[in-house]
Amino acid sequence: MKVLVTGGAGYVGGVSVDALLAAGHEVVVLDDLSTGHAAIVHPAARLVVGTYADETATRELLKSEGVDAILHCAARSLVGESMANPAKYYRENVVGGVALLEAARAAGVLRVVFSSSASTYGVPDETPITEQAPLRPINPYGESKRAFEGALRWYGVAYGLRSVILRYFNVAGATDRLGEVHRPETHLIPNALIAASGGRALTLFGEDYPTPDGTPIRDYIHVADLADAHVAALVATDSADARTGPVGGGPTEPVIANLGTSTGFSVKDVLREAEAVVGRPIPHTVGPRRAGDPPVLVASNGRAREVFGWAAGRSTLAEMIGSAWAWRRAHPEGYGD
Ligand SMILES: NC(=O)c1ccc[n+]([C@@H]2O[C@H](COP(=O)([O-])OP(=O)(O)OC[C@H]3O[C@@H](n4cnc5c(N)ncnc54)[C@H](O)[C@@H]3O)[C@@H](O)[C@H]2O)c1
Repeated sequence: MKVLVTGGAGYVGGVSVDALLAAGHEVVVLDDLSTGHAAIVHPAARLVVGTYADETATRELLKSEGVDAILHCAARSLVGESMANPAKYYRENVVGGVALLEAARAAGVLRVVFSSSASTYGVPDETPITEQAPLRPINPYGESKRAFEGALRWYGVAYGLRSVILRYFNVAGATDRLGEVHRPETHLIPNALIAASGGRALTLFGEDYPTPDGTPIRDYIHVADLADAHVAALVATDSADARTGPVGGGPTEPVIANLGTSTGFSVKDVLREAEAVVGRPIPHTVGPRRAGDPPVLVASNGRAREVFGWAAGRSTLAEMIGSAWAWRRAHPEGYGD
């Protein structure tokens, strides 16, 4: 199969491109390099620099490349920025996303796998969170993911689009080739490793949560496990595959699956494990809580197992932090850009 990966020069997209190539598929990457790095893109994939929001150019690309399916990883994805500038999130993630879907429809590409997020759930009533939990995002980022999920659903009803919505929890870790470099970096593990390398001290946002050690609990998922799930999900969108086809004589419905390990680790657990991995104390301070940080976010991951036969194979913090640290030590300049 030939796959267009939007955001394939980013962290999740880049590792997914590698996994697709390793599984024998062909890949074209569409990335505007706004937060990505050209060096991430595997040499066996073609990189086209541009935005998926350009409907005409995307349609022509899909047609000229003979693309079979789309993995839509590209997005604006900073929660704080989305609170300060909601229009950017609606314009790019929602309006731009619809331009991508229109391009896909015009090119006859009716297979999409989408990088969604646990942020669509907001503050859950229960944990572990199942895919049936109500979607009540508490920031424009999560809202934009929820809105695009809705668009996928209605494209299924109107045009028979087959889609898989993957709601990631906290992505972590590295492969031998690719690690996490975001600017600004807002994720806990890379920030702990930056502090361990002599960069700015780590800030723990609140230690007065109703959790055993007072810090928020999150579900971490290794980026390589995530990539495996993407390959399985793309395969499942084949027109002959019953998993993504019309449901009970009705319309085509998106298949929705959480991607997490179903195990929660607190911020202090992560800090302790990071200190064990690097072999020294990590400078840190404790600040106030961040608005909108729920105490506990842990996925129920039974659906991904049931539909795709997927299981997280690298589910310990030691594997996630250890691989991230190994990559950082081997690439002290990141991607050199
Ligand atoms: N990293 C996480 O913990 C996490 C958790 C949940 C969901 N997600 C979602 O996963 C996806 C990938 O996240 P990531 O951490 O790899 O981010 P990233 O910033 O590393 O990658 C995003 C890529 O998309 C590209 N891009 C952005 N806008 C574009 C546009 N209009 N056209 C073409 N390319 C564009 C960027 O240049 C970048 O290469 C995002 O959709 C994000 O919302 C990530």
